[in-house]
Amino acid sequence: MNKRLNIGILISGRGSNLQAIIDGIERDVIAARVTVVISNEPDAYGLTRARTHGIPTRVVDHRSYRGREAFEDQLIKTLKEFQAELVVLAGFMRVLTPHFLQAFPLRVVNIHPALLPAFPGLDVQRKAADYGVRFSGCTVHFVDEGVDAGPIIAQAVVPVYPTDTGETLAERILKMEHQVYPRVIHWIATGKVRVEGRRVFVDGAKMDEHLSPIEPSF
Ligand code: GRF
Repeated sequence: MNKRLNIGILISGRGSNLQAIIDGIERDVIAARVTVVISNEPDAYGLTRARTHGIPTRVVDHRSYRGREAFEDQLIKTLKEFQAELVVLAGFMRVLTPHFLQAFPLRVVNIHPALLPAFPGLDVQRKAADYGVRFSGCTVHFVDEGVDAGPIIAQAVVPVYPTDTGETLAERILKMEHQVYPRVIHWIATGKVRVEGRRVFVDGAKMDEHLSPIEPSF
């Protein structure tokens, strides 16, 4: 692939979505390159994953800054230093304020392990299992000032069984996350994604494939 989008990935933990993105890039199915992986947690396993693949890493520990703005300024500075054109949140456990978002307007995406707007927030796989819903899944969305609230780019559905625990459901959803997130990043990298208010259009996507657990699909 000739033109590749520069992406910066923000993590806080194990980084399995980061790994799925790195693998997609190495298999040449995502027209992007990861220029930097930033973690706010010094011990995040995702940092090791990135280093294994020769990707530059930085730790920006929120505890070392006086306030959110100073923390976010350092994130912005680092992302700009590595020429990130898209910011990908992959298990990043800090809420970003408008101060950060203004630096990357409609250029920050997140993956959430539930079918938004149901179950925003934390520990949502357990909450969905305990609630007794029959379906859950994951959502990739643009990040705005709300928590888990920005325009939805894609969602994938998995069944939920009465015997599920938060852990068994999380495992099922995670497999879908690893399929959906690389796909969405490729769409953005190839200029297929357009936003009109809350509606997100993906050029070339099929919207009538009722059997597809991922919407939109190609
Ligand atoms: C995923 O479940 C993702 O949906 C949520 O945080 C988790 C990150 O997992 N935002 P990993 O670090 O990518 O393995």
